[in-house]
Amino acid sequence: MSVKKLAIASDHAGFSLKQVLIDLAKNMGFMVEDLGVDEKTASVDYPDYGIKAIKSVLAGESTFAVLLCGTGIGMSILANRFPEIRAAVCHTEFEAEVARKHNNANVLCLGGRVIGEEIATRCLKVFLETEFEAGRHQRRLDKLAKLYQTHQ
Ligand code: RB5
Repeated sequence: MSVKKLAIASDHAGFSLKQVLIDLAKNMGFMVEDLGVDEKTASVDYPDYGIKAIKSVLAGESTFAVLLCGTGIGMSILANRFPEIRAAVCHTEFEAEVARKHNNANVLCLGGRVIGEEIATRCLKVFLETEFEAGRHQRRLDKLAKLYQTHQ
């Protein structure tokens, strides 16, 4: 069985959560690529770090990415600019599960100033364990891709 890879990145507001989630993903057998930020104190701009993890997914080097900022919103706006990325901001296990089952999300965005470690850990666990259901959901994703193409 091939080892799945997870890219993870945060700004200063997501740093503490990032360290917790790295441990979880490693315990679940994922190879984790930590793309910073590397320390808690420095104030940084989330696009500078989020893009590194997004590029890892776009290049096929990582199956999934986890992006963390204060709310998860800035990172999700960044990630969803790329048509191959389906990023979901989640606050509950239910959202994380359905983001995989229905939306085939490949990026999980979490807010370090919004949810605590326990909920974030549960969200990531279910996100990594859940498969896309395809079927009617694939049809809807195909429509998203087509809409994007016609607006180029
Ligand atoms: C940083 O203060 C904060 O704006 C950022 O982490 C994020 O929440 C943006 O969406």
